[in-house]
Amino acid sequence: MKLCEGRIAIVTGAGRGLGKAHALMLAKHGAKVVVNDLGSSADGIGQDTTPAEAVVAEIRAAGGEAVADASNVANWEGAKSLIDTAVSHFGGLDILVNNAGILRDRMLINMTEQEWDSVTTVHLKGTFAPTHHAANYWRQQTKDGKKVDARVINTSSHSGLFCNIGQANYAAAKAGIASFSLVAARELQRYGVTVNAIAPRATTRMTEGLGQWTPEQLERRDPEWIAALVTWLASSQSSAVSGRVFEAWGFGYSVAESWQHGPLTEASKNPETLGPEITRIVGEARKNAGIDRDTWMDI
Ligand SMILES: NC(=O)c1ccc[n+]([C@@H]2O[C@H](COP(=O)([O-])OP(=O)(O)OC[C@H]3O[C@@H](n4cnc5c(N)ncnc54)[C@H](O)[C@@H]3O)[C@@H](O)[C@H]2O)c1
Repeated sequence: MKLCEGRIAIVTGAGRGLGKAHALMLAKHGAKVVVNDLGSSADGIGQDTTPAEAVVAEIRAAGGEAVADASNVANWEGAKSLIDTAVSHFGGLDILVNNAGILRDRMLINMTEQEWDSVTTVHLKGTFAPTHHAANYWRQQTKDGKKVDARVINTSSHSGLFCNIGQANYAAAKAGIASFSLVAARELQRYGVTVNAIAPRATTRMTEGLGQWTPEQLERRDPEWIAALVTWLASSQSSAVSGRVFEAWGFGYSVAESWQHGPLTEASKNPETLGPEITRIVGEARKNAGIDRDTWMDI
């Protein structure tokens, strides 16, 4: 039996890049896949149904089952119709992979309101809205006495976890997705739903041109390494794993450990007395994990 045999999956932004790799890998391992993609440019302009349709054709040509969906995941009704498509076409929903995304990089001094709103909306609302509608479907299933063994896999980013300069909008949204995933994991546990997130690194339209890679590095930046982790997380085998954020690429997978309580000092109502103690605890605290201070990730 295949790892995801008979399971029904939605992958958002699956017309290209990482989402396409997730959809193909899930289908290869037996899942029926709703291939969602608005078909926008990398900065979120326009619509085109052909990328999603091409992925559906590729899955069907390999003997799998898939259907295309062109909903905008950041639109409340669009997100609802996406969940409805899985239920009406395949008869249910087991896996939601929130992957769709765009970039509009700018230093915050120059960032426009529109650049902030569009990026935070596609990523944050585009993760919340499908999750909300899927969670309501799973809650109803539970109430109807049906067994739910469902998965939500969200897409965070190193930019969000480690705070990349020039991406205030994107990093804030991606850090938000990491926290959202942990809250959702706690809230949805009672309905048989696990929620995890990945912080991937791969060469796609979004990242091409960002570095000069050797052929070996390029191979390790293939989206398939990440799709394999997503496919395992989507399977029944991962039922004990929830509320985790995984760094993922061809060089390995790692659990990104979250904010921790650090050094402590007594509180005071007099700010004039605080200097020495605040200086002490800042000195004793671990440095923030920086995007430039990676160890094993900087290969
Ligand atoms: N490539 C990387 O190294 C990397 C690193 C960290 C995080 N990510 C994240 O991984 C995800 C996939 O990125 P990618 O690199 O494959 O980029 P990509 O541009 O190749 O693919 C993104 C897809 O999302 C679709 N999309 C955009 N807005 C949408 C919307 N509102 N509704 C439905 N679909 C929409 C686009 O049409 C596109 O096909 C994104 O969330 C991205 O932020 C990627």
